[in-house]
Amino acid sequence: MKKVVLIALVIAVALSCAFGEGQLIGVAMPTQSLQRWNQDGANMKAKLEAKGYKVDLQYANNDINTQIQQLENMITKGCKVLVIASIDGSVLSDVLKQAKDNGVKVIAYDRLIMKTPNVDYYATFDNFKVGVIQGKYIETALGLDKGKGPFNIELFAGSPDDNNAVFFNKGAMSILQNYIDKKKLVVPTKQTEFTTIAIQSWSSEKAQARMDNLIAAKYAGRTKLDVVLSPNDSLAIGIVASLKNAGYGTAKKPYPVLTGQDCDKANVKAMIAGQQSMSVFKDTRTLAAKVVEMVDALMQGKEAAVNDTKTYNNGVKVVPSFLCDPVFADKNNYKALLIDSGYYTEADIK
Ligand code: BGC
Repeated sequence: MKKVVLIALVIAVALSCAFGEGQLIGVAMPTQSLQRWNQDGANMKAKLEAKGYKVDLQYANNDINTQIQQLENMITKGCKVLVIASIDGSVLSDVLKQAKDNGVKVIAYDRLIMKTPNVDYYATFDNFKVGVIQGKYIETALGLDKGKGPFNIELFAGSPDDNNAVFFNKGAMSILQNYIDKKKLVVPTKQTEFTTIAIQSWSSEKAQARMDNLIAAKYAGRTKLDVVLSPNDSLAIGIVASLKNAGYGTAKKPYPVLTGQDCDKANVKAMIAGQQSMSVFKDTRTLAAKVVEMVDALMQGKEAAVNDTKTYNNGVKVVPSFLCDPVFADKNNYKALLIDSGYYTEADIK
């Protein structure tokens, strides 16, 4: 009997070694200042450890050089796979060349890594669809599809160094541009160019400052602001703060329709309070689970499962991708989506 147990143990250990258990995986996240990346990092760590991997999890304080150094350290420490949510997707070519030379595989997490052949896979949510969900929400909320209008809109976009920001914007504009062309949506400030409306580093403060300027330029008098396209929740927080300071949120001056993305706790509260109209829920548990599957496949010398081999060209190659599904959220469905699914507790959003 003892012999059988011993043999079983030896086989188990051999199998786990073959599957890379106990091996080190590097997880590089951009910043702890936004709720979602803390969740992403924690989910990745827990799920990888549950599979027996060791995890080097690092946050880079949104500083490009810090992230590059962290990646160099991970390679030196012997990480077999790097999972990277980049800060600036186009500055990692040198360090990823190092990874390649050391036989380290690379998975771009949520944000595509640009201008390098040395990224093996990309796992994200369908970023174009995120924008479409926001655009369609605006279309329905204002009744544009029923011929209503014109309405005044202001547009915001995400950080110009994040490839996702372009996709979110293209997705939203695929719905909204038609109404702008038909003058059913009017942009009083005329600020529509991506480079003009983009907010560096997805900063709430910068979004607030830009909204202050837009209000001062066009909405100090009688012009009514009906809707603001915000690509995500961190921008929406800044936009709400600016609107609040300018006296919005009363019966006479209600908050405009305002979009978002991530379902951060503060923004779910803002939705419940009627300050933000909607958000897009990207269940970071699903993304983390997918990436752990990818890591596992790579550690076994296999190909990872993907569902998109066309969309994400990083300037050097099309990176095989797995796209998870983003979901519409507002104050009517947040309970089912976020509470019943165990993503948040009631206390989290009180
Ligand atoms: C992510 C969004 C997030 C934004 C700011 C994007 O790359 O896809 O979910 O809101 O970064 O952190």
